[in-house]
Amino acid sequence: MNMYVIAIMYSEKNVERISFTVPSDFLQEFDKLADELGYKSRSHAISDAMRVFFNEKKQTDENIEVDGFVIIAYNHHQRNILEEITHLEHHSEITINSSLHIHVSEENCSEVIAVKGKLENVRSFANKLQSIKGILLCELVPLYLFPKDAID
Ligand code: NI
Repeated sequence: MNMYVIAIMYSEKNVERISFTVPSDFLQEFDKLADELGYKSRSHAISDAMRVFFNEKKQTDENIEVDGFVIIAYNHHQRNILEEITHLEHHSEITINSSLHIHVSEENCSEVIAVKGKLENVRSFANKLQSIKGILLCELVPLYLFPKDAID
């Protein structure tokens, strides 16, 4: 299961200037990629890279509370799949705040499920969904918001 990072707006207040050393060719590659991705400044790209790092490392703490999304795709002709998904959604240890159903094609559906709970339980929910026969894709997107990320 892949983990993605949601880009989060951040305040320009309370910023710190740092300097660090990095191999030149690595920096060149980084700048090239940041440019291709549309970043206007190196600082912004590095900040986002730090968020990726934070997200990955933070995942090791299974006890933290997270909000997030589980994105699934499935063939709705698969026998019992809707019943199995609904059953799991009603019998999990997490809170499901909302879900969005998208009819992708004649056969395939996609759902974005807004989840909240302990990371351990959110992961378990996503893993159980993934194991349902007929689920073509299941991605967990946890959101870790920095307390000071809010723009005031
Ligand atoms: Ni559908």
